[in-house]
Order: sequence, then structure tokens, then C-alpha cells
Amino acid sequence: MSAVVVGSAVLNHDRFSLMTVRPILIAPHPDLKRHAEPVAEVNADVLRLMDDMLESMYAANGIGLAAPQVGVLNRVIVIDVARPDEPPAPLCLANPEILWQSPETVLAEEGCLSLPDQFADVVRSERIRLRFVDRDNRSQEIEATGLLARCIQHEVDHLEGTLFVDHVSALKRNIILRRLAKSRRHVAAAE
Ligand code: NI
Repeated sequence: MSAVVVGSAVLNHDRFSLMTVRPILIAPHPDLKRHAEPVAEVNADVLRLMDDMLESMYAANGIGLAAPQVGVLNRVIVIDVARPDEPPAPLCLANPEILWQSPETVLAEEGCLSLPDQFADVVRSERIRLRFVDRDNRSQEIEATGLLARCIQHEVDHLEGTLFVDHVSALKRNIILRRLAKSRRHVAAAE
């Protein structure tokens, strides 16, 4: 998920070392439409993936990123919904599973790092309960509301090959995808 306003969040590099910015796939890349597989455990490889994903997300001024967006079809997501004036609050979630979602919904604008500069209003549950495996390979459950709940729903969607534009009308979706393709052609022409 991308935010319009996110400051340059700087990570504590004592904890997150040797991170690499990986290229983010842009729609309509086929990997963005595929189902991602659970990880068996959060081992050194998965920790490296999480760190790289955080680095890639911050570099792109995003607030969430799912592994398929960097071409890895595993159920791993990273999120940081801290405001620019707040310290970074990175969350790394493996095998996230939405156990419950409130019937109360909220309509708000979303973007996505795989659909740069495109935005649409999407209906999401206001609150969710989530189970996931943390960086220490421990199973955890949390409740989330507000922007965090929205961001988790958006990122978990990515693990099933669902993009935010799949939640809007076909008419709106086609307008956004056509606009994106046109802007990518301009980018390619300028390079
Ligand atoms: Ni996204």
C-alpha cells in the first residue's frame, strides 16, 4: 500500500543490516495475480526477505508491501503505518491469517506501490483480528483498527493475487489500468 504523505522513515540500522532494495513489480505483472504459499518457518532467509521488503517499502515511501510485489510467492508482508512525525514502527508478518473482520466497514482512498500514482476508494472492514508468525517464529494474535486494519487487509489480499482495483467497478478498474499503462509508456520513453 502506498501513502500520499509518508516522510523518509529511517530504520535503526543496528538491527536491520545488509538490507537490499528489491525492484517492485508493476501491474499487470502476472506474479501479482498469483496465490502465495505459506513459509514453513521464519528462518534466516525469511528474515532477510522481511528486511529487504522493509527497505524497498521505505525507499518507495510506502506503508505496506507483500512478498509477491518483489516477485516472491510466499505469505510474508511488512507494514509501517507510523506518521512522518512518529518513530518508525515496522511490522513483519509471516503467514498472516484474518480470523475475524467486523461487519462495520469504512470507505477510504488506497494506493499501491504496484500501481504507482493510482488511487481509488475501497471498502474495508473497520476492525480485524489477525493471526501471524512474528520475526521470532512465534505465533501471535492482534486486533487492528483504522489505517493498520486497512493496510493489513490490502496486503493480505496481495497474497491471493488481489489488488485494490479488484474491489472497485470494472469501469473504474479499466480506467486506472489504462492510465497506469499510459504513464508507464511515458516513463519508458523518457528513459
Ligand atoms: Ni499494494
